Amino acid sequence: MRAAPRCVVITGASSGFGAEFARRFAAEGADVVLVARRRDRLEALAAELESRHGVRATPIVLDLAAPAAAAALVDELAAQDLTVDGLIANAGFGIDGRFAEADPARVSALLAVNVVAVTELTRLLLPRLLDAPSGVLVTVTSTAAYQPIPTIALYAASKSYVRSLTEALWHETRGSGLRVLALAPGPSETEFFSAAGSERFKVGQTLPVPTVVDAAMRELDKGAPRPSRIVGWRNAAVAGANRLVPTRVSLAAAARATGATR
Ligand SMILES: NC(=O)c1ccc[n+]([C@@H]2O[C@H](COP(=O)([O-])OP(=O)(O)OC[C@H]3O[C@@H](n4cnc5c(N)ncnc54)[C@H](OP(=O)(O)O)[C@@H]3O)[C@@H](O)[C@H]2O)c1
Repeated sequence: MRAAPRCVVITGASSGFGAEFARRFAAEGADVVLVARRRDRLEALAAELESRHGVRATPIVLDLAAPAAAAALVDELAAQDLTVDGLIANAGFGIDGRFAEADPARVSALLAVNVVAVTELTRLLLPRLLDAPSGVLVTVTSTAAYQPIPTIALYAASKSYVRSLTEALWHETRGSGLRVLALAPGPSETEFFSAAGSERFKVGQTLPVPTVVDAAMRELDKGAPRPSRIVGWRNAAVAGANRLVPTRVSLAAAARATGATR
């Protein structure tokens, strides 16, 4: 059984998986740092967690698409005297449609949030996570990390990047006591689809948010968590099958699933 971390930074804590992770870690007695853009959501959640669990819950309002956002967050942690031993790199969003028609500003923002902020924040916090006796690093990827997907190409590529980085870090840090996990949910009813303005991402086995976060917490509780965890046996089966067929075949199946068949 894993010792609970003492203070966990959760990006994208204003809704969905991030808010659920915050509730779980606070229930274990960990202080939580709640990061996102929507101040009202973060403050309401912080008040709920402080009164229910008696932990310190600190909202930090930050646009992770802004230049040097990760460094700004680490500076803010220091300014607020917050010594963290856990990072849940969860914030992210999707854009859909053919890549040639994508809004270049949205492309840049997606890369900044889904890729750059995750990478820089992980790099900046990793030494202190490694020093901690019960450190935790979770990145939230997706079943989309397991294959290229026409019309959500950039999103799938960003999740593939994060999965690759996280799995390699799992190996680099093994034996250190740090728990590292790339969590890969399939579709779940969060605000993700309204933020993306599209249902195209709803491919695969849909599971409730608490089921997904349960799976992550159970994995972290193991003596030796796996490098990554696809949530839902059907999602895992599809990812496994995709490894066995030619790329053209898996691309065609993905295109059919997202409705991108033309
Ligand atoms: N739901 C699914 O079906 C699904 C499946 C697989 C993977 N995922 C992944 O799960 C993670 C969480 O998504 P979710 O499903 O929980 O969706 P969600 O409810 O839309 O949550 C996304 C979170 O990311 C934050 N965020 C987005 N852009 C941000 C920015 N520029 N700066 C700071 N925070 C930002 C949002 O906060 P603000 O808007 O307040 O900034 C929100 O808290 C994402 O990485 C997503 O790709 C979701």
